[in-house]
Amino acid sequence: MITLGIDVGSRNTKLIIFDHTKQSILFQEWIATNIDPTKSIEQLYTKALTALKLPEQSIAAKVATGYGRKIWPLADKVISEISAHAAGIVWLKPEARTIIDIGGQDSKVIALDSQGKVFDFAMNDKCAAGTGRFLEMTAMRLGIEVSQLSDLAADADREIKLNNTCVVFAETEIISLMASKVSATNIVRAVHRSIAKRIFSQMSALTHQAPYAFTGGVAQNQDLANCISMELGSELWIPPEPEITAALGAAILAKP
Ligand SMILES: Nc1ncnc2c1ncn2[C@@H]1O[C@H](COP(=O)(O)OP(=O)(O)OP(=O)(O)O)[C@@H](O)[C@H]1O
Ligand SMILES: [Mg+2]
Repeated sequence: MITLGIDVGSRNTKLIIFDHTKQSILFQEWIATNIDPTKSIEQLYTKALTALKLPEQSIAAKVATGYGRKIWPLADKVISEISAHAAGIVWLKPEARTIIDIGGQDSKVIALDSQGKVFDFAMNDKCAAGTGRFLEMTAMRLGIEVSQLSDLAADADREIKLNNTCVVFAETEIISLMASKVSATNIVRAVHRSIAKRIFSQMSALTHQAPYAFTGGVAQNQDLANCISMELGSELWIPPEPEITAALGAAILAKP
């Protein structure tokens, strides 16, 4: 049986086609979420069907998640990102007990029991401080790509503390640090430390335990992962492609 999962995120839309008989991913792809998210969904859907040479009716069920989950008329069901991330991680790493997901717009911490069921979660969707938006602003100010932040911060040689957690005020602080000739390397590390502290304090709202998994596009930032690890005093497991976890979970939960 073949199912489809789609995660319409604030930044990226990800699509997974999952074969339940073989327990394997047949297709995975992501693109930036268009200003009209239906266009991104249709583009990925057509691409998947073409690549796999599948007729539409061979997909037993389609499940959507993410902030734009309600806009695709072809979806059989919509589910929360919490359920989707949990199902994705349980399939990838069954022993995980806590999931940290950082996307472009929000961050979530999800606590799982020994059966892989969600028993608590904390979500931050009102403030950019612990999210990819902070990284995007930092990269933009430094004139680099978000994907370059991790390698840059890895060479940090001086501890700089950002006084402002609010991204709007932190931006002004970064501009003034740049004017004071503080290196980009040390500024980026300070941003990572600030995000890590923010996530750690978000986690205090719930009971959490190792093993920890880190998902979402931001989990590609290894230096930030190291900073969160330091706060937790525990290692973080990162899937090989952390951005697709929720789409994978949606495809898994799509099984009729
Ligand atoms: N290599 C990278 N290093 C750090 N951050 C990255 C990297 N690649 C992408 N990102 C960040 O990941 C974020 C997008 O991740 P993701 O696709 O999980 O978000 P989303 O699901 O669209 O957002 P949300 O879940 O908040 O709606 C962006 O903020 C982007 O800047
Ligand atoms: Mg997301």
